[in-house]
Amino acid sequence: MNNKAIGVFDSGVGGLTVVRALLETLPNEEIVYFGDTARVPYGTKSPSSILQFADENTKFLISKNVKLIVVACNTATAIALPKLQADYKVPVIGVIEPGADKAAASTINKKIGVIGTVRTVKSGAYSTAIEKIDPSISVFSTPCPLFVPLIEENWVDHEVTSIVIREYLDSLIGEGIDTLVLGCTHYPLISEAIRKCYPGIKIVDSAVSTALMVKKLLDKNDINRVAELTFSDRISIYLSDFSETFQELGERILKQKIIDNLHKVDVQDIS
Ligand code: DGL
Repeated sequence: MNNKAIGVFDSGVGGLTVVRALLETLPNEEIVYFGDTARVPYGTKSPSSILQFADENTKFLISKNVKLIVVACNTATAIALPKLQADYKVPVIGVIEPGADKAAASTINKKIGVIGTVRTVKSGAYSTAIEKIDPSISVFSTPCPLFVPLIEENWVDHEVTSIVIREYLDSLIGEGIDTLVLGCTHYPLISEAIRKCYPGIKIVDSAVSTALMVKKLLDKNDINRVAELTFSDRISIYLSDFSETFQELGERILKQKIIDNLHKVDVQDIS
């Protein structure tokens, strides 16, 4: 038993898609979330900046006394996960391995498409992870750098977003893929829009598989939380910048009011 919270971070609102899966899969656990909204997007930044941000975010969560950290950001997972795992004593879990597992289990024709930020796609982290599971699978990847700003702007149902989706994805779909990995935790917010453009494609994201991986780790180390909590006591959300769209999108993802759970942190205080 361990009643400490689970720490989760992302560059912005996207990591809440992982938080939703954690809240559903682990009904007793408490979550401390950090969204680095002052420095979003990460996906177009250099690896050294991403390493620095990931390290600062981890330190911040550790200062909140968490028992485990989930890097709910594919970009930070691709660039910083091995370093965080080596540098910190608390277990650190990323989102790429769980997403790769799910995609490999889902494809029938062994052709998987992966979309993500520029940095995630350039890292080749998904191709490497999928190849490790099944070398006979072909992976086709494309970066979609406009998706995160469109989502952070809450243009998830906007026709401009559908035009951008087709612009980025038509050629990837043309490769004959049967499974598409949303390799960015923001993208589940536009999964319906993607599905409307390409109804036959299986869309996979890593939220639920990541939550199951966390559950396994808690069970294995016997560090589950025992006491039940109400929703408002289960989640604290720290942001390096406040925006109304974060609140709107956050409430849409978590299907709960979050205004009383939001706290502001100055980036200078964590860097
Ligand atoms: N949600 C993040 C990811 O999964 C980061 C997006 C960004 O900040 O560019 O990659």
